[in-house]
Amino acid sequence: MEQNFIVEKTVAFVKETLKDAEGGHDWQHIERVYNNAKNIAETEDANQLVVELAALLHDIAEPKFNNGDEEKGPAMAAAFLQDIGVDEAVITHVQNIIRYMSFKSSFDAPVFTSIEMQIVQDADRLDAMGAIGIARAFNYGGHKGRAIYDPAVPAQTYTDKAAYKNSTAPTINHFYEKLLLLKDKMNTETGMRLAQQRHNFMLVYLDQFYKEMNSSL
Ligand code: ADP
Ligand code: NI
Repeated sequence: MEQNFIVEKTVAFVKETLKDAEGGHDWQHIERVYNNAKNIAETEDANQLVVELAALLHDIAEPKFNNGDEEKGPAMAAAFLQDIGVDEAVITHVQNIIRYMSFKSSFDAPVFTSIEMQIVQDADRLDAMGAIGIARAFNYGGHKGRAIYDPAVPAQTYTDKAAYKNSTAPTINHFYEKLLLLKDKMNTETGMRLAQQRHNFMLVYLDQFYKEMNSSL
C-alpha cells in the first residue's frame, strides 16, 4: 500500500472525526503535532509511517472527552487502519503509542516505549507549551467552566495519577501541575531545544500575569 495514500486517507478521517472537537484538541492541534513530529523525526532514526500515523491519530478519542475510556482511541485507530489495509505491525505500534504517550501515563511505571512514541510525545508536549499551550490551557479551562485564577487555591504538583486527573483547580494552577514540568520530560535533542524556548516564554507570561493581577505594574 502506498504510504502517501495511507496518510491522505488518515488526514481525511481525522479531520472528519474531530470536526466538533474542543479547540485545544481539534484538527489544528493535530496538524501542529503532525508537523512538529515530522520535523523532529528528521534528526532521529525512526519509522516515518508510524510517526505520521500516530501523530494524526493520537487524540482521535481523547479519554477525557469519552468518559475516561482509554481504549476507545486505540480501537478506533485500529479499525480505521485495518479498513485501509495497513500492516498489522504498524497498527499495533500506533495503538501502543496512542495508549501510552499521554502526560497522565507518566504517573505509571513505563509499559511501552519506542523512538516513534518519543517523537510524537515531544511534538504533543511542545503544543502544550508556549503561546499555543497557554491558549489551549485557558480554552480547556473555559470549556470546563474553571476559574482563571484563585489566590485561595494554591498551585501544587501531583505524584498521584487520580489526583492529577481529578484536579478542578483554576487554569493558572495547570502551569504548575503540568506545563512548567514538560521541558524536563522531553525525549529528543530537538524537542528539548524547542521546549526551552517555549518554557522561557511561559515564565515571562506568568511574570506579567501576576504583575497585572496584583496591580503592581
Ligand atoms: P496529554 O495528551 O499530554 O495527556 P492533555 O490531553 O491532558 O495532554 O492536555 C491537552 C491540552 O489540554 C493541553 O494543552 C493541556 O494543557 C490542556 N489541559 C489538560 N488538562 C488541563 C487543565 N486541568 N487545565 C487547563 N488545561 C488543561
Ligand atoms: Ni494531543
